[in-house]
Amino acid sequence: MNDKSELEFMSHSESQTQALGRAIGLASRAGDVVGLVGELGAGKTRLIKGVAAALGVKNRQEVRSPTFVLIREHAGRLRLFHVDAYRLSGAGELNSLGFEEILSQGGLTVVEWADHVADGLPADRLSLHLIITGPRSRRISLSCGGQKSRALLERLGQEWAKRGKGE
Ligand SMILES: Nc1ncnc2c1ncn2[C@@H]1O[C@H](COP(=O)(O)OP(=O)(O)OP(=O)(O)O)[C@@H](O)[C@H]1O
Ligand SMILES: [Mg+2]
Repeated sequence: MNDKSELEFMSHSESQTQALGRAIGLASRAGDVVGLVGELGAGKTRLIKGVAAALGVKNRQEVRSPTFVLIREHAGRLRLFHVDAYRLSGAGELNSLGFEEILSQGGLTVVEWADHVADGLPADRLSLHLIITGPRSRRISLSCGGQKSRALLERLGQEWAKRGKGE
C-alpha cells in the first residue's frame, strides 16, 4: 500500500482479508463509515470479522451475514454496526431501518452490499471493492469520498505498514 487516496491490494487467503479488516478496525474512529461492494462470497463478512476482532468484540461468532436481521450491533472499543443491504434498495429502505440514527451514535458502521443503498450512505465513506480473482484470491480496492474517510485510509495504511498483511 502507498499513501495515495486509492489503494489496491491482493489477498491470497481468508486470513489476509481478515488482516485488512483488523487494520480497518484499529484505524477507525467514532463516526467512520465503510461500504463494502462485492459479489456473493467475495469476503465481505470475513473482512468484517477482522474489524470486529480489532475492536475487541467478544462474541465474534455473532458476526455473520445477517439474513433476516439487517443490522447487527456489537459492543467493542467503538460500537460496530454491521449492515447487510443485500435485500435493500435505495435510501428510503435504508432509512426506514433507522440508519440515520445509527450514524449519529458515534460507532463504526460497515455496510455489506453498499452499492444497493449508495444514495443513502454518506459520500464521505471508505469504499472497498472486493473482486474474486481465484478460489482463494481477491483483489480489494479502497477509495475514500471525503476528508474523514481519507484520514481513515491514511491511518489504515499506517496500521498496515506496522503490522504487515497476515499470513
Ligand atoms: N482471500 C479470501 N478472502 C476472503 N474470503 C475468502 C478468500 N479466499 C477464499 N475465501 C472464502 O470465500 C468465502 C467468503 O465468504 P463471506 O461470507 O465473507 O462472503 P460475503 O462477501 O460476505 O458473501 P455474502 O454476500 O454472501 O454475504 C468464505 O468461504 C472464505 O473462506
Ligand atoms: Mg456477507
